[in-house]
Amino acid sequence: MYHNEKILSIGLNLPLGFFEENLYAYTMTSGKDVFMNTYHRLPVIFTRGQGVYLFDVNGKRYLDFTSGIAVNCLGHNYPPLVRAIAEQAAKFNHVSNYFQSDVSVVFAEKLTRAAGMEKVFFGNSGTEANEGACKIARKYSLKKYGAGRHTIVTLKGSFHGRTITMLSATGQDKFHGDFSPFTEGFKYTPCGDIAALDRALDNTVAGLFIEAIQGESGVIPQTSAFISVAARLCSERDILLMFDEVQCGMGRTGSFLAASAYSVKPDVATLAKGLAGGIPASAVLVGEKAADVLTVGDHGSTFGGNPLAAAAGLVVLDAVNNEAFLTEIVRKGERILRIIRSWDSPSVKAVRGRGLMLGVDITANAWDVMTACLQKGLLLLSAGQNTLRFLPPYIITDEEIDAGLAILRECL
Ligand SMILES: Cc1ncc(COP(=O)(O)O)c(C=O)c1O
Repeated sequence: MYHNEKILSIGLNLPLGFFEENLYAYTMTSGKDVFMNTYHRLPVIFTRGQGVYLFDVNGKRYLDFTSGIAVNCLGHNYPPLVRAIAEQAAKFNHVSNYFQSDVSVVFAEKLTRAAGMEKVFFGNSGTEANEGACKIARKYSLKKYGAGRHTIVTLKGSFHGRTITMLSATGQDKFHGDFSPFTEGFKYTPCGDIAALDRALDNTVAGLFIEAIQGESGVIPQTSAFISVAARLCSERDILLMFDEVQCGMGRTGSFLAASAYSVKPDVATLAKGLAGGIPASAVLVGEKAADVLTVGDHGSTFGGNPLAAAAGLVVLDAVNNEAFLTEIVRKGERILRIIRSWDSPSVKAVRGRGLMLGVDITANAWDVMTACLQKGLLLLSAGQNTLRFLPPYIITDEEIDAGLAILRECL
C-alpha cells in the first residue's frame, strides 16, 4: 500500500481499505508535505472529469463552475479534444522551433485569422505571453524613438502574472512584497479615470496593457468610454495598445477577443488559459504595427507551439470561433445574471460580468461559501474576499446552470 493516513485526515471520508480494494497506487498526501505551500487548497482530490463534472477519489460528483480557472473551456474529457490529443501523441508531440510542424502552422494561421491579427508567437503560460508582449512594446519604441521611452502602463487592480517582471506589471500592492528588486519601468493608473490615463500616457511610455475584464481582482469590466479613449490616445501617441486576454479571451466573454466587444483592435493581444482547452499553451498576437518588431534571436521558447498543444488548440478554435457558439455564451451569461438578480437576496450585493466570466459580490466570506458549495457538489472560485467568480465551461447547459445556482442559493 502506497497511500497513507494523511489523505484520510483531510476530510475526504474514504472508507477504510479504499485504496487496497481499488488497487490504486496513490502516493498522494494532503499536499502540504510534498508541494510548496503556495496555494490555499480546498480539501478534495479529483480523479476524473466528464463534461461539466469532476469526480473525486470517492466517486462524488461536482458541478464545475470554474473550468480550472477558465482553462477547460470545453469541459472535461471533451471527445474531439481527447481524440486530437491522442492522435497527435501517436504521431509526435514535440519538434524544436528550429523546425515547423504541420499542425502548428495550421493552428498559427487559423488563430491569427480568428483574432484578426497578423502574426503569433507561441509560449506556454499567460505570464510568459505577457512578458513577450512587454518586450515587443519596448523594442518597438526603442527602434523608433530611442532610449528612455520604455514604460509600460498597466491598470490598478490588474493581474499579469508571477515572474518578477509580470509582478511588476501587476497593479496591486499586495504582489510587490517579498521579491525585490522588481523590474523597473511599469506604472499604474486607475480603471475608468480618463484624466489620469491621459496624464499617465506621457512621452516615456511604450505600451498600455489592459485586461478588458479584470479577472483576479473581482471580475471588473472596463467601461466603453475608458477603452475608447485609451485606444485613441495610444493611436495618437504611437503607444502600443496591448490587451491581456489570458483569462477573458478565447470566447470567454462571448467574443473571440474580449477587446472586440469594445470595438477596438489591439496592437498586441495575449491568450493562454482556454487556448488549448487544458493543455498548456499561450500566444502573443500582433497586429500590423508590431508584426515585425521581434526578429531572430529576440525571443524564444523550447515548448511553445508544440504539436500537442497546437492539435488541442485547433479543436478549441474550431468550436469557439463560431458566431452561434459565441452567442450562446452571451445568452448563458445573461441567464445567470438574470437568475441571481431575481433572487433579490440580501446576501448578494452585486453581480456583473459578460459571457461566462461573472462575479458575484456577497456579504459573506467567499471562501466560506465556496467550502459550503464544495460539500454540496458545486465548485466555485473567488476573486477577492467577498466576491465569487464563475468561469464555467462553455458547454454548460441551462439545466446544469440551474442546478449549480440552486446549490449556491442554498449555501448563501
Ligand atoms: C489576466 C491574467 N494574466 C496573466 C495570468 C497569468 O497566467 P499564467 O498563470 O498562465 O502564467 C493570469 C492568471 O490568472 C491572468 O488571469
